[in-house]
Amino acid sequence: MTSQLFTPFKIRDLTLKNRIIVAPMCQYSAVNGIPNNWHLVHLGSRAVGGAAVIIVEATAVETIGRISDGDLALYNKVQMNAFKPITEFIKEHDAIPAIQLAHAGRKASRGETLKHERLLSIDEGGWEVVAPSAVPFNERYGMPRELSHQEINELVESFKHSARLALEAGFEIIELHSAHGYLLHEFLSPLSNMRTDEYGGSIENRMRFPLMVAKALRETWPQNLPVFVRISATDWSDGGWTIEDSVIYSRELKKLGIDLIDASTGGVIGTAKIPVGPGYQVQFAERIKKEADIATGAVGMITEPKQAEEILKENKADVIIMAREFLREPYWPIRAAHELGDEIKVPAQYKRAY
Ligand SMILES: Cc1cc2nc3c(=O)[nH]c(=O)nc-3n(C[C@H](O)[C@H](O)[C@H](O)COP(=O)(O)O)c2cc1C
Repeated sequence: MTSQLFTPFKIRDLTLKNRIIVAPMCQYSAVNGIPNNWHLVHLGSRAVGGAAVIIVEATAVETIGRISDGDLALYNKVQMNAFKPITEFIKEHDAIPAIQLAHAGRKASRGETLKHERLLSIDEGGWEVVAPSAVPFNERYGMPRELSHQEINELVESFKHSARLALEAGFEIIELHSAHGYLLHEFLSPLSNMRTDEYGGSIENRMRFPLMVAKALRETWPQNLPVFVRISATDWSDGGWTIEDSVIYSRELKKLGIDLIDASTGGVIGTAKIPVGPGYQVQFAERIKKEADIATGAVGMITEPKQAEEILKENKADVIIMAREFLREPYWPIRAAHELGDEIKVPAQYKRAY
């Protein structure tokens, strides 16, 4: 009998060969936003390892939307062309290439690639930081400038432009990053959005810009291909964004034709107390799936095949999204299949090992 983890999953015209997705993970290894051999090998290895979907790390839709000077970006042809060998390789290994489109907002302009804990000054090649409101993440981050209405509209166009380039580069899924305290989440959360215009105040107003972007992406991306949205389902803080807000947001995203909610948490303030532990965010994928009636991905300290299988069997999520375990073990799906008693195709070159 096939396990749930290795049961295919159809979304629009795509069929995921199993329920295992590699989470987006910044590598801080790009120059001028351009992917290189590191990205090819890092992402390619995980495709060889048997995951159904490989999501490329947060990729900025404009230069000031990068978290650090080592981030990927996708707003010009040079960047677009450099993604092509990566999407081709992933597809050659029966996996689906996905890309997370992002804007870092007030958490941008970090220096020291791979140790990005320091603000990069303008003199050192840093850049102006923008946000819904002029409120910094904390004292070690830059003071953001409040975005104007014209800039908000231009940003919607930037996301569309990147989506068109993503399609040309060969991607089959886009994931909109509206989590972890970056720009879209900064609009959603009352802890970072102090605006008094139509983009601040009520939840309808705070959702306005993220929903404009989601709508624009859904209209730009081909109807036969899926769009995912990653959210922070809670700020884990009094007065912050809540799971109830996330259900409302997910219902609106569903109305726009978004296919799946990738349910992460946190990131908008540095002082939240997060009860980290195995599967600590699964409850949010489950609640959104049930209450907003949309497919969800569970993410966060899911490391064991049986743990993943239970989540799916209990109908708490539709797919399992994993990050750090894939850094430890790129071939995790091969081990998972073995442990769950399933057959998995391994590359012909590696058959003698199995
Ligand atoms: C090295 C690293 C880079 C990450 N970069 C991103 C990113 O680009 N976008 C994102 O949404 N989350 C990012 N995350 C968060 C992961 O996608 C994931 O949600 C988190 O690590 C929890 O899952 P895990 O317990 O399986 O690692 C990153 C995590 C790690 C460890």
